[in-house]
Amino acid sequence: MMMFVVILSLCFLDISECYENLSRRPSTVLSLSSRFQTQNATLANDGVRDTIYSKCSHTAENQSIAWLQVDLGKRYSISKVTMYYRDDGSEGWRPYRLRQFSLYVSNTSANMSATPRTRCYTDNTTEQDLPKNIIEMPCKQTARYVIVETTYDAHDDQSTGAMLEICEIEVYGCKTGKYGDNCTSCEGCKTCDINNGSCGCSDIFCGIDCEHSCNKTCENQICNRTTGVKERLKIVIIGGSISAVIVLIAVTVLIIKCINKRSLPSGQDTGYVEECIRSSFHCQYKFILSRP
Ligand SMILES: *[C@@H]1O[C@H](CO)[C@@H](O)[C@H](O)[C@H]1NC(C)=O
Ligand SMILES: *[C@@H]1O[C@H](CO)[C@@H](O)[C@H](O)[C@H]1NC(C)=O
Ligand SMILES: *[C@@H]1O[C@H](CO)[C@@H](O)[C@H](O)[C@H]1NC(C)=O
Ligand SMILES: *[C@@H]1O[C@H](CO)[C@@H](O)[C@H](O)[C@H]1NC(C)=O
Ligand SMILES: *[C@@H]1O[C@H](CO)[C@@H](O)[C@H](O)[C@H]1NC(C)=O
Ligand SMILES: *[C@@H]1O[C@H](CO)[C@@H](O)[C@H](O)[C@H]1NC(C)=O
Ligand SMILES: *[C@@H]1O[C@H](CO)[C@@H](O)[C@H](O)[C@H]1NC(C)=O
Ligand SMILES: *[C@@H]1O[C@H](CO)[C@@H](O)[C@H](O)[C@H]1NC(C)=O
Ligand SMILES: *[C@@H]1O[C@H](CO)[C@@H](O)[C@H](O)[C@H]1NC(C)=O
Ligand SMILES: *[C@@H]1O[C@H](CO)[C@@H](O)[C@H](O)[C@H]1NC(C)=O
Repeated sequence: MMMFVVILSLCFLDISECYENLSRRPSTVLSLSSRFQTQNATLANDGVRDTIYSKCSHTAENQSIAWLQVDLGKRYSISKVTMYYRDDGSEGWRPYRLRQFSLYVSNTSANMSATPRTRCYTDNTTEQDLPKNIIEMPCKQTARYVIVETTYDAHDDQSTGAMLEICEIEVYGCKTGKYGDNCTSCEGCKTCDINNGSCGCSDIFCGIDCEHSCNKTCENQICNRTTGVKERLKIVIIGGSISAVIVLIAVTVLIIKCINKRSLPSGQDTGYVEECIRSSFHCQYKFILSRP
């Protein structure tokens, strides 16, 4: 039982650590809407998950908005985002400034107002409660920017304005066109579901860009109607059948040739019954040809 539990938790750890940690790519750039003292954005992707003040990025006081942006440099397939937020514990500093934050993904930078964004997570904690300081947020999106943003002004301390104190932010995903634990290549299409690799073409489409109507091209089993994924087994079967037909035709042609040879008898034709027992490669079969 103990063993089982250990194995289970190992698996769980494995799953929670899977994909590539995109925040840690050398090409990834973090930035803050403003900075408090020396607590710059770099502290949120330095690999240190400690949640004490000195290890956390921190935006400035008296701002109406606070954000932290992870710029991946180009578009990636994102699966989830894990955030470690300031919680000093013994010093009594709690994550109250994190209430009502949102996590967004976007293809345009956080400083561009009124640009399209997709929200992956919103915290709804009210004044009496506190959010958890370590939050894992599923966010299955293709995007270049990951943005944590808030306009919430906590009244639990003297300072005013919206503030963020993010200690580490881990963005898990793969390059587009790859999926799963080991970021393996999508099969049968250019981009696929980041978690299960499904091509996700709607029911009647398939192909590299989901560009083929299944009606036309998938009926003959080139790809799976549902997943758009090539069905190797079926290809093998089709290939096998084609080869079998070719062999059958070849054999038939040889047999006919053989029969033709015997039905055009030579001058030494001696009987009504002849045996085709030529040792030739073409004539391995024994034919009895009856004549009236
Ligand atoms: C952030 O601060 C650290 C020291 O606290 C410094 O080493 C690093 O260069 C700073 N990063 C940026 C981008 O300013
Ligand atoms: C992601 O980065 C954290 C530190 O930020 C590191 O501890 C962790 O091992 C990394 N995970 C993966 C899967 O690379
Ligand atoms: C923020 O605003 C308050 C009240 O207006 C002021 O006392 C304080 O000095 C300001 N803090 C900063 C860092 O500007
Ligand atoms: C970013 O662009 C890609 C490719 O055009 C698109 O699939 C994706 O949905 C966009 N992401 C967001 C958050 O708008
Ligand atoms: C937004 O930030 C980027 C860097 O992240 C910068 O190049 C750009 O000039 C900024 N745009 C505005 C409108 O501030
Ligand atoms: C917060 O509320 C919004 C809107 O009702 C909801 O979509 C979202 O799931 C809630 N967030 C959490 C973490 O429950
Ligand atoms: C990912 O790679 C590891 C180590 O090579 C392997 O044990 C695991 O089965 C792979 N996972 C998948 C889903 O392929
Ligand atoms: C993959 O995940 C998507 C979204 O969750 C789901 O719609 C689809 O059925 C899954 N495909 C497979 C083959 O599990
Ligand atoms: C092709 O698709 C149309 C509409 O999507 C459908 O009515 C028709 O039955 C399909 N034909 C075949 C052979 O699947
Ligand atoms: C397509 O793939 C799905 C998931 O692998 C499978 O359940 C389904 O039977 C396949 N469809 C066909 C027509 O083979």
